[in-house]
Amino acid sequence: MERKIKELPRTLLHGGDYNPDQWLDRPDILAEDIRLMKEAHVNCASLGIFAWSKLEPEEGVYDLDWLGEIIDRLYENGIYTILATPTAALPHWMSEKYVEVRQMLSNGLRKYPGERHNFCASSPVMREKMRGINSALSRRFGQHPGVIAWHISNEYAGCGGDHMDGACYCPLCQEHFREWLKKRYGTLDNLNHAWWTGFWSNTFTDWKQIHAPSAMGENRLHGLKLDWKRFTSDQLLDFCKEEIAAVRQYSDRPAVTNFMGMFYPLNYFKWAKTLDLVSYDNYQPWHATEDDVPTAMYASMGHTLTRSLKKQPFLLMESTPSLVSWMPKCSLMRPGMQALSSLQAVACGSDSVQYFQWRKSRGSCEKYHGAVVDHKNGGNTRVFRDVASLGERLKKIAPSVLGTCNQPKAAIVFDWENWWAVEGAEAVTNPFGYDRRWLPFYQAFWRLGIDVDIVDMEDPLEGYSLVVAPYNYMYRGNYIETVKDYVAKGGTYVTTCWSGEVDDSDLCFLDRHPLGDVLGIRTEEIDVSPAYVHNQISWQGKDYAIRELCALVHAETAEVLGVYEKDFYAGYPALTKNNYGEGEAYFIASENDDAFLLDFLGYLAERTGSGSSLRVNGELPYGVTVNERRPVESSASGEVASAETEKGSLWFVQNFNSGSATMDFAERYRDIETGEIIEGKKELTGYQCLILEQA
Ligand code: GLA
Ligand code: ZN
Repeated sequence: MERKIKELPRTLLHGGDYNPDQWLDRPDILAEDIRLMKEAHVNCASLGIFAWSKLEPEEGVYDLDWLGEIIDRLYENGIYTILATPTAALPHWMSEKYVEVRQMLSNGLRKYPGERHNFCASSPVMREKMRGINSALSRRFGQHPGVIAWHISNEYAGCGGDHMDGACYCPLCQEHFREWLKKRYGTLDNLNHAWWTGFWSNTFTDWKQIHAPSAMGENRLHGLKLDWKRFTSDQLLDFCKEEIAAVRQYSDRPAVTNFMGMFYPLNYFKWAKTLDLVSYDNYQPWHATEDDVPTAMYASMGHTLTRSLKKQPFLLMESTPSLVSWMPKCSLMRPGMQALSSLQAVACGSDSVQYFQWRKSRGSCEKYHGAVVDHKNGGNTRVFRDVASLGERLKKIAPSVLGTCNQPKAAIVFDWENWWAVEGAEAVTNPFGYDRRWLPFYQAFWRLGIDVDIVDMEDPLEGYSLVVAPYNYMYRGNYIETVKDYVAKGGTYVTTCWSGEVDDSDLCFLDRHPLGDVLGIRTEEIDVSPAYVHNQISWQGKDYAIRELCALVHAETAEVLGVYEKDFYAGYPALTKNNYGEGEAYFIASENDDAFLLDFLGYLAERTGSGSSLRVNGELPYGVTVNERRPVESSASGEVASAETEKGSLWFVQNFNSGSATMDFAERYRDIETGEIIEGKKELTGYQCLILEQA
């Protein structure tokens, strides 16, 4: 049944994963939890994430009463529940009785029971058992006033451990893969062409001959490998859809699952289309090195990516309030970092700050993972006080923040299918390192204090003044037309070497670069510059070092803005600009150092009017960045924010240095928390986050 999805309550959610199922024999602790949650200004708990063995202790026997009591008690105390489906960890009675629910490895061995996300998404038994428990939860709690959302499973395909990519190689999954291929290609002829199977005598004459790629068999047929990745992501998504359908039976609460940022196995852009809300689990190695700035930039990217999946506020579903116990070195968060790293999520578009976990478990592998409540000392700890004081801050800022979201004018293309294809291209460098080479583009915007959206090749580009598309090796869907149209209508498009190489079947384009007209160039070869060469380019009178990749291209209609200075291709174009229709297209032929990207993207942001609207004199100090949330028509849950339409922008000015940094504001701003009017020079203390509005 199609239902109108209920909106989230209009509040900034604060709380996190709560596992009362581990403490059912300690009513004193459960009572203390409620008392402490109120003290910490917690208004939301994620329940039942790994509780399957408590919810269905025996096959078909559901015990939901304990959960009902907890949900009631939380609700009576002003605490909402995000209720999980428990499929991330299987009860032992199930994996023991039904061997087929366990994933099979690519070597043909079944996994042992235990751990998390080790189930076969094709298994009819797994699906039946999932439907059983999900329906029971939905029937019992789907309309409970305290239950505000469904937390579907947990970190699909993830959660650490070996062989965790969601893939199962059992005969049934292989059969489903063949069905998936039949749908995609229709005929074997089409598939043979798309996969170029004439190579190494791989021509298939029967669908049965197709097997998943494996180190024990065919593992170098690019089309096969790419489609297996697509299938694996789709197959788990199909399972997730069935989970949602099961909870939907009796419930109109929004469905969300927790994503992990740039997580290779799952195409989150595609997944986001199925979910009502998206959320992010943020774990960073704060303080692992003296300079937290690269970590801050990377964390910002994870938040930004998650927000960009739906271009609306997201939820920070998990984060640590102190340390992450699976890091090589588990440093404590320095005073101030808990608040700053949490507000960073809000700055990037989150409408929540949620932790893993509320209370430390007493045993097993996460007993020392950071939590709001420790094994000892109740609420009398540094971490608890930090969390409580952040909770108070969130309550105070909520009216200003709700109904706003980041609305960037610049976008960077990041495409999962491209990622899968380019890593396996067996060219240039092996692997390619798309995420690693892509990140410096994001970093430049972050350093400039410019919000960006991260888009994939299916996203529309209109509305952006600047679109940057690094290493788009594969052009898929309507991307070529989308870009042509975007530039023709006045957009500014920037792309790089190792773009426009293959189509969505991973077949090389013939004749010329598909965007050759737009870019005004002819591409020829690509070099990985040997480390001893130290090549460089010069642009606007400044020299910039080249990192590694150097495309050898020829300008046709494009203007040459910079050339290589060394090696046999000295004098070849390294940076070009072409006018196309009403717009401009730039081609960066080489992989340049950070300084170049900072200068060049800063120049383009200014030229296209996509820079930060916060007025400051001079540049932002190192380690300080800005995000802007502007009023929107709809909130995370699609609600029209009528009361907020009068609101203006909010700027989150964040200092990720442990020491102070001086800003120079060129206009008058008001600190929304203290009311202080700020103009001209202002010293930010270490790890400070200011939230400003125009005064
Ligand atoms: C993941 C999981 C949590 C927990 C944390 C620990 O994000 O979702 O259950 O294991 O990691 O960092
Ligand atoms: Zn399987």
